[in-house]
Amino acid sequence: MSANPFIIVAIDGGAASGKSTTSRILGERFSLLHSDTGSYYRAVTAEMLHRGASPDDIGSVKAALADLRLGTRIEGGSAEIEISGRRPGDEIRSREVNDAVSHFAAIPEVRESLLGYQRGQTAAARKGGFRGLVMEGRDIGSVIFPDADFRFFLHAESAERERRREKEGRVDRVTERDRIDSSRKTAPFSRPAGAISIDTTLLTIAEVADRMAAFIAPKFAP
Ligand code: DC
Repeated sequence: MSANPFIIVAIDGGAASGKSTTSRILGERFSLLHSDTGSYYRAVTAEMLHRGASPDDIGSVKAALADLRLGTRIEGGSAEIEISGRRPGDEIRSREVNDAVSHFAAIPEVRESLLGYQRGQTAAARKGGFRGLVMEGRDIGSVIFPDADFRFFLHAESAERERRREKEGRVDRVTERDRIDSSRKTAPFSRPAGAISIDTTLLTIAEVADRMAAFIAPKFAP
């Protein structure tokens, strides 16, 4: 093992499976750059809606994609997306974006436009002096980083996931989004073969993070 390993942790899971909070915790604990790819799909979706593009009109989507300039700003240990120099705000969690995001994310051209961007986060992590990257999403362990050092798959019962969203005061069609995300043709959301699977239904966030950390910690052991 090298003295200063640079590691990639891939975390996949459905809506409200616990992946965002746990990946932030792991990022902080091990000095890994945190990357929430769902927020990238949401930001692109907000931009599409803003430009009047529709998932049913591929021409309008391609025209809008051709114009996108994607950048990254690191804030509080997370790699935040910028589109044409602007960081998207709370609108990416709006009901409109929530309802549309899975439809835009199913379009191969949209996924393609984010592929290199997501892989490029390793360079941002190295440049920022992080010891690695923890990236969360739906196809990270299967498509973006199939050779990641650690690949986790988080899941929880639907009723519990709906309850978590309610508690956050958010309106989210958790199971409907999972259904669309799992049934798309390109990079469908599924458990990556060989990933470490954790059922978070009955666990606290701290317990989930501890379980994951137990796998990662030996990599940094002196
Ligand atoms: O993680 P999230 O719920 O904020 O993600 C929003 C949507 O983005 C999700 O319903 C599907 C899409 N997504 C994706 O297709 N691939 C990813 N790697 C991350 C998110």
